[in-house]
Amino acid sequence: MGCCVETVDLTHRFSEAEPALDRVRLQVTEGSIYGFLGPNGAGKTTTLRLILGLLKKQRGEIYVFGRPFTETRVETLRRLGSMIESPSIYAHLTAAENLQILQRVYRCPKRRVEEVLEVVGLARTGRKRAGQFSLGMKQRLGLALALLHAPTLLVLDEPTNGLDPNGILEMRGLLRTLNREHGVTILVSSHLLSEVEKLVTHVGIINHGRLLFQGTLAELLSRRRANASVVFETDDDAKAELVIRGLALSPNAVPGGVAIRGLEREQVAGVNRALVESGVGVFQIGRVESDLEKIFLDMVGG
Ligand SMILES: Nc1ncnc2c1ncn2[C@@H]1O[C@H](COP(=O)(O)OP(=O)(O)OP(=O)(O)O)[C@@H](O)[C@H]1O
Ligand SMILES: [Mg+2]
Repeated sequence: MGCCVETVDLTHRFSEAEPALDRVRLQVTEGSIYGFLGPNGAGKTTTLRLILGLLKKQRGEIYVFGRPFTETRVETLRRLGSMIESPSIYAHLTAAENLQILQRVYRCPKRRVEEVLEVVGLARTGRKRAGQFSLGMKQRLGLALALLHAPTLLVLDEPTNGLDPNGILEMRGLLRTLNREHGVTILVSSHLLSEVEKLVTHVGIINHGRLLFQGTLAELLSRRRANASVVFETDDDAKAELVIRGLALSPNAVPGGVAIRGLEREQVAGVNRALVESGVGVFQIGRVESDLEKIFLDMVGG
C-alpha cells in the first residue's frame, strides 16, 4: 500500500522562537482514515496547510500521491478535496447554487451536485440560503464542496468543530461511508481522541510541533494494555505494599487498593499467593486499563 501523504522532517517557523513544526514525519497510508491529534496550538493546521500548499514550505519534504506537491499542483488538486477551518460559502445562495459554481469551475458532470447533496444529507434544503444554515449544515455543505470532484484523498481540519454530539455522530458516519464505500483516504485532525477513536484506522499525535506517536489504532490500544494496572483490594494496604516491594515490583497506593502496572497474568497469581501467605486478606483483584484519552493526555503532558 502506498502513501497518500508523506512528510519528511517537515520543520516550520513563524518566528525566531520555538518552531511551530519540528521534523514532522507523517505517513498517511492509502485507504486509511488517519486521525491527526493534538491540543490547541500543537501544529495540526500548520501541517495540513503545508500539505495543501497553502503555506510556503520552509524545510523538509512533502509528497502527495508519492510526488512533491508543488511540482504537480494542478494534477494533485484534481484528486484532493479539503476543508480547512470554516468552509467558504456564498451566504446568499442555496446549497445547490453554491455547488453549481464549483461544478462549472471543475467542469464535472451536473449530476454531481445532486449526488454530493445526497451524500452529505442536504438534498432537501430547497430554496433555503446557506447563510441561514445551522453550523452543522454549513460544515456539511463545506464537505459537499470538497467532495464535488470525487477526490480520492480528503484533508479535513477539525470538521466536527462546533457540532453537537448528534452532528459529530453524523459527520463520523459520513466519513466512514466515504472511506468504506467510495475508497476515499481521509486525513482528519481533531483535538479530541474520543471524537475520532471510533472512526480512525491510524493515529498521529502531535504536541508542540513534534509527532509523539504514529501508528495504527491497534498499536495505540496495545500500548494501552501495556500501561494497564492490576489493583489488589486488601484488608491491609500498607502491609500489601511491603510484600509487593519484597517481590521486586513497584506498587502504588490508589483509592481502594494497591496498583501494580504492566503485570503479566502469571505474576498476578504470584502476587496474590505472596499476599495471602503473609497474612494479608485479598478481597478483590481487578485490571484497570487507563483509557485512550488518558494515554493521549499522558503523551501530550495534559
Ligand atoms: N500565521 C501565523 N503566524 C504566527 N504564528 C502562527 C501562525 N499560525 C500558527 N501559528 C503558531 O503555530 C503554532 C501551531 O499552530 P496551529 O494553528 O498549527 O495549531 P493547531 O494544532 O491547529 O491548533 P488548534 O487546535 O487551536 O487549531 C501555534 O503556536 C500558533 O500560535
Ligand atoms: Mg487548528
